[in-house]
Amino acid sequence: MILFINACVRAESRTHRLAECLLQTLAANNPGEEIRIADLPQIDFPKVDDHFLDRRTALAGSGAFTDPLFTCANDFAAAGVIVVAAPFWDLSFPAILKQYLEQICVSGITFHYQDNVPKGLCRARKLYYVNTAGGPFLEDFGYGYVRTLAQVFFDIPETVLIRAEGLDVEGADVERILQEKEQEIRKLAGMV
Ligand SMILES: Cc1cc2nc3c(=O)[nH]c(=O)nc-3n(C[C@H](O)[C@H](O)[C@H](O)COP(=O)(O)O)c2cc1C
Repeated sequence: MILFINACVRAESRTHRLAECLLQTLAANNPGEEIRIADLPQIDFPKVDDHFLDRRTALAGSGAFTDPLFTCANDFAAAGVIVVAAPFWDLSFPAILKQYLEQICVSGITFHYQDNVPKGLCRARKLYYVNTAGGPFLEDFGYGYVRTLAQVFFDIPETVLIRAEGLDVEGADVERILQEKEQEIRKLAGMV
């Protein structure tokens, strides 16, 4: 299963366009593979407050990992390939992606502790992170954070960054930049 985590907010999202190209390429190279979508702008994430944490701890403590509260985490753990699409916002990514990440970091589903060290329980061998930026792209607080989570918590060995930057710079030929990126993506994305 290919899991598409869509954190693109705008109707005309350029990030979403690049992610679509990637998904089409992955689908063409892996016929029959299911594509599951976590469409973050459509999800009403629960408020992660004291009550939520107590409930989650109680459910996890009783092994109730099939509870709907864990749907996002279970999908993430089961995916063979993960595609995250997130525009560059305020040197990072939209808050809905952080809300999603809070939902999937569940000890017992996506990782667990062994001798106080997190060990990944995810099936995925590869995570793609698709990003577009209005100006210059900086890794630190967006892609860098997701990559570190993938390495430290989830044990996903390969993360691939696909990015187009400078799209809002005066005079930028946005269509040309996007088309060049789409060509790169078609060459890059192979078998699951
Ligand atoms: C709320 C918001 C915050 C943004 N912050 C940044 C930023 O910090 N740096 C930057 O280079 N561009 C920034 N941009 C511009 C976007 O990165 C750029 O337009 C991107 O292509 C948007 O992706 P989309 O077309 O998929 O929505 C911001 C745009 C929005 C709407």
